[in-house]
Amino acid sequence: MIKTPICDLLGIEYPVLQGGMAWIADGKLAAAVSNGGGLGLISAMNADADYLVEQIEIARSLTTKPFGVNIMLMSPFTDQIAKTVVDQGVKVLTTGAGSPAKYMKAWINAGICVIPVVASVAMAKLMTRSGASALIAEGAESGGHVGETTTMVLVPQVCDATTLPVIAAGGIADGRQLAAALMLGAQGVQMGTRFLVAQECSAHPNYKDKILRANDIATITTGKRLGHPVRSLKTPFSREYFKAEFAGMSDDELDKLGTGTLRLAAVEGDLNRGCFLCGQVAGMVKREQPAAEIIRDIFSHAQKVLSEADKWVIN
Ligand SMILES: Cc1cc2nc3c(=O)[nH]c(=O)nc-3n(C[C@H](O)[C@H](O)[C@H](O)COP(=O)(O)O)c2cc1C
Repeated sequence: MIKTPICDLLGIEYPVLQGGMAWIADGKLAAAVSNGGGLGLISAMNADADYLVEQIEIARSLTTKPFGVNIMLMSPFTDQIAKTVVDQGVKVLTTGAGSPAKYMKAWINAGICVIPVVASVAMAKLMTRSGASALIAEGAESGGHVGETTTMVLVPQVCDATTLPVIAAGGIADGRQLAAALMLGAQGVQMGTRFLVAQECSAHPNYKDKILRANDIATITTGKRLGHPVRSLKTPFSREYFKAEFAGMSDDELDKLGTGTLRLAAVEGDLNRGCFLCGQVAGMVKREQPAAEIIRDIFSHAQKVLSEADKWVIN
């Protein structure tokens, strides 16, 4: 059994979070992960409060276990969502794509456990001072919005810079990577790409198929020029976007080119125009399984790896 203080903090059995994933992490997936003993998260993405309330109701109808909400801070509805999570009695929040500093006081006063995603030591220090309960240190291998620093390099530096529990994200899909994250000082992990192919994940079958067929060099980072890089699969769309970035296309046109493309991938499975966000670890994701089975497999694998971890140590 692998148990860390994160389990008590969040009321979960296994120290694993399912990452917020816009257009993908809905109430059904969150409930399945929570029923499997991890912490499921509903992605508030770019949607308004009505969508979030609907997904919270779905999750509550499917599980009695704790689950949380992920707030994507670039959403135009962030102010509305920030209030809705308080009204809805959400207990755990993760935040991505920016700093949640201006909302922290209200959330903490409402007794919410706030766990921001950080991609740098500076952000980790700022969030520690702002009253976060834990931090998710997300490396550049991950799917979605990415920073510059890899998980291997970021996690120990964030652990050294904070007194808070740290959850590692980016590039974790099996027990070896989970064990490594714990060795780097993390008390838990967050996975996105691995849960994209959970049976309960409603991503379009084309999306899942592309993840299952991906290899080690299947992803690309685009969007650096506009200041918000994202990692996705190499597809006709991402190659076109990548070229356009360096071919002098105006910022407005570039912005337009990217708008709505994650929905096209996740909902419509559009192989040409869709943006299939995922992490580098897609090359290791080879099987669609129930979320609970994914969690059990990864933890029993990590337990084996950790029990043999001192095999090269000569005393
Ligand atoms: C399709 C997709 C959408 C994502 N959307 C969000 C999001 O809306 N908010 C957020 O904080 N992180 C988002 N992420 C990042 C994940 O929550 C998670 O941290 C990341 O996937 C972990 O790395 P991994 O993909 O290597 O497992 C997204 C990731 C993916 C793959």
